[in-house]
Amino acid sequence: MWESKRAAAVPGSVFALMDAAKSRARSSGLEIIDLSIGSSDLAPPEAVLEELRAATRDPGTYRYPLFSDTAPLRTAAAGYLARRFGVPVNPETEVLPLIGAQEGLTHLLMAVTDPGDTLLLPDPGYPPYLGAAAVAGLNVVTLPLRPERGFLPDLEGVPGTVRPRALLLNYPNNPTSAVADRAFFEHAADWARRRGTLLIHDHPYAELTFGDYRAPSALEAGGEGVVELHSLSKTHHMGGFRVGFAAGDARAIAALARVKGAVDFHPYLGIQRAAALALGLPDELGRAGAATFQARRDALVPALRELGWQVALPQASMYAWAQVPGLQDSVAFAVRAAEQTGVAISPGRAFGTLGESFVRFALVQPPEVLREAARRLGTVAPDRAAL
Ligand SMILES: Cc1ncc(COP(=O)(O)O)c(C=O)c1O
Repeated sequence: MWESKRAAAVPGSVFALMDAAKSRARSSGLEIIDLSIGSSDLAPPEAVLEELRAATRDPGTYRYPLFSDTAPLRTAAAGYLARRFGVPVNPETEVLPLIGAQEGLTHLLMAVTDPGDTLLLPDPGYPPYLGAAAVAGLNVVTLPLRPERGFLPDLEGVPGTVRPRALLLNYPNNPTSAVADRAFFEHAADWARRRGTLLIHDHPYAELTFGDYRAPSALEAGGEGVVELHSLSKTHHMGGFRVGFAAGDARAIAALARVKGAVDFHPYLGIQRAAALALGLPDELGRAGAATFQARRDALVPALRELGWQVALPQASMYAWAQVPGLQDSVAFAVRAAEQTGVAISPGRAFGTLGESFVRFALVQPPEVLREAARRLGTVAPDRAAL
């Protein structure tokens, strides 16, 4: 009785099945290697933690933070976008702190769309996108991301009859690890402007990039009709702190600020100070964790290829997206793998119908543990029929 249509429309998650499989493996005595959840296992930079500790000792941080109190974080965010991407944004009107990108996305959709509007979403994609769309009452049209196109969508293939209010993209991508270049964002922003569509770019992996590769910002294509969501969760290992920021089109940011004004009072001031400091760190401190994820990638990808699994070498993100030959039911496979070997991975179907022949590894364990995970997975048959 006490469930709205909106709440009922938020899809359930197959991760509950994985949790049950992990519990069964644990009770049968298996040692669990959990690679199913993309939560960084590294610590934030020490200077960031120290800033937060100091803030908790300052009684001036105990009150509700007002918009004017967010100025240091907004200025730090604008400084980061200018330094890192050469993108000029006005910290007064074009930046807003978030309690994480996920919070920001749901409220942004509520701020810039009306129930019944159409949202273009990638398939496969980060599962909470569907929940955010449901909360905002949107009609979802999926954009296929296929390996043969480097997991980039074919925007020109979207029929003219589809009139999306917003287009949501995410590169470096979860779950596929694919990356997009500046020309892609220029094309996407141009396409969106032609269609009267807001381009929303979810960018939590902006600094989790490997070697010389650096991810561009969608805002390099201009801020008009574009909003980008940044997060400190992955790039600075601050997932539990719940902090990020939105930047871009001033009208969309103002609408987001109105909606959020009805919901929250901005992140705790101490967390804002810690985030501002993190965004100003030099590369060798701010990007320190990226090398750790790169070493893990270098351990896991060759081990999976030895099993005959097809997996591209990610240039960014904290995932490997592996296609398992002959796989027909990724959920059944992931459950069986957890129960038989203790290795928990995410079934591709959790990310959309096009994920079905894939599984996703989160690189959240040291290299030797990842190699051991691959060794154990080599003993699991892709399909029950093949057993
Ligand atoms: C694509 C994507 N967007 C958003 C998030 C969540 O970011 P935040 O912690 O800032 O809410 C994640 C976390 O896994 C993600 O993969």
